[in-house]
Amino acid sequence: MFAIKPKLYFGDHPLEALSPLAGKRVLMVTDAFLVSSGLIEPVRAQLSTCTLELFDQVEPDPSLQLVARGIRVLREFQPEAVVAFGGGSPMDCAKAMVFFAAKEGGTSIPLYCIPTTAGTGSEVTSFAVLTDTDKGVKYPLVEDALLSEGAILDPSFLKGVPPRVTADTGMDVLTHAAEALVATGANHFTDALAERSFTVAYRALPEAYRGNQQAKADMLYASCMAGIAFNAAGLGVCHSMAHSLGGRFHVPHGRLNALLLPHVVNFNAANHKASEKYANLAKLCGLSANPRALSAAMVRLRTSLGIPAKLEVSMAQLKEALPTLAAAALSDVCLDANPRKVSKEDVISMMKELAG
Ligand SMILES: NC(=O)c1ccc[n+]([C@@H]2O[C@H](COP(=O)([O-])OP(=O)(O)OC[C@H]3O[C@@H](n4cnc5c(N)ncnc54)[C@H](O)[C@@H]3O)[C@@H](O)[C@H]2O)c1
Ligand SMILES: [Fe+2]
Repeated sequence: MFAIKPKLYFGDHPLEALSPLAGKRVLMVTDAFLVSSGLIEPVRAQLSTCTLELFDQVEPDPSLQLVARGIRVLREFQPEAVVAFGGGSPMDCAKAMVFFAAKEGGTSIPLYCIPTTAGTGSEVTSFAVLTDTDKGVKYPLVEDALLSEGAILDPSFLKGVPPRVTADTGMDVLTHAAEALVATGANHFTDALAERSFTVAYRALPEAYRGNQQAKADMLYASCMAGIAFNAAGLGVCHSMAHSLGGRFHVPHGRLNALLLPHVVNFNAANHKASEKYANLAKLCGLSANPRALSAAMVRLRTSLGIPAKLEVSMAQLKEALPTLAAAALSDVCLDANPRKVSKEDVISMMKELAG
C-alpha cells in the first residue's frame, strides 16, 4: 500500500493554499524565535482576515507538558483550523495537540504545516516525536490521524536558517532517505522517493550550508520526499538510537543521526538486500558502488559541515546510561522496520562509538 494524504503546495505563492481559511478562527503553533525574528509575518499577512491566536511556546523536542498546555489553549480558543509554522518541533507539537484534542471527544481540526527547516519531513508524516521529560525518554507517536491536510513548501522561509541548523537538519534528511531505502516496508514507490531525496540532498547540502538559496530549496523538497518515503517504508535502528539518546542528552536530532548513520550503514550492510541497495545509492551519488563508500562519504560530509565526530559525553557518562539507553532504543517503534535484526549488544556497541 502506498498513499499520500497531505496535499503538497509549492512553486509560486504556496501560501495561497491558506486562502480557504479566510474569515475563520485559526490557531498558529510556532516557536518564539520565529515570531520575534518576524519570519512569521508573511503567514500572518496571508491570514489577515482570520481571528488569529498564537501558541508560540514550542521548544526543541516538544514535551508532553508542552502539548498539554497547547491543548488547553486549543480548547479555549476553539479554532476551525490549525497552522503549524516551524521546524519539526512546532509541527510535531501541533500534530499532537490536534490529535489528542480530537481523541478527547472534540472534532478533528484541519491542520496545515509550513516547515521552516529542511528537515524532518513532519509536514507529510504520521509521526509526532514527543519527550517525556520525567523519564528522559523521547518517543514517536505514530497514527494516521496525525497526517496534516496540507504541506506548504515555501523555501523563502529557509533564507535565514543558520549553517549549524542547516547541517543538523540536512543530515536528518539523508538519514530518513537512507533508512527508508532499506526498511522492511520499502517498495518501488518509496525507493524512488528515497533515492531521489538522498541524491538531491547529498549534492545540495554543502551548498545549502554555505547559504545558497537554491540549494536550500532543493533541501526542502528533498526533506519532503524523504518524509513521504519513510512514512510508508519505515525507518530503522538509527532513529531508534537517536530518539533514545535525544531524550537523555538533548543533542539536536539531526546531529545524532549524523553521528550514528555511518555505523548503521556498516551494520545493516550484512543484510544482502540492504547491501545491494546501499551500493546502488553510492553509485547514484558518484561514489564506488559499495556500502563502505557510502558510510565513508557520510563521515566526510558530516566533517565538512563542522559536525563534531563525537558527543560531548564521556565514556563514563555514557556507560552509566547505556542500559537505559539501549532498552529505550530496543523498544522504539522505528526499530521494527530495520532490515537486520538488532541485539542489545549491537546497540551498545554502536552507541559506544559516540563517546567523546
Ligand atoms: N514528525 C516527524 O516525522 C519527525 C521526523 C524527524 C524528526 N522529528 C523531530 O523534530 C524535532 C526537530 O525538528 P528540527 O530539526 O526541524 O528543529 P526544531 O524545530 O527543534 O528547530 C531547531 C531550531 O531552529 C530554529 N529555526 C527553525 N526554523 C528556522 C528558520 N527558518 N530560521 C532560523 N532558525 C530557525 C528554531 O527556532 C530552533 O531554535 C525533534 O524533536 C525530532 O525528533 C520529527
Ligand atoms: Fe529524523
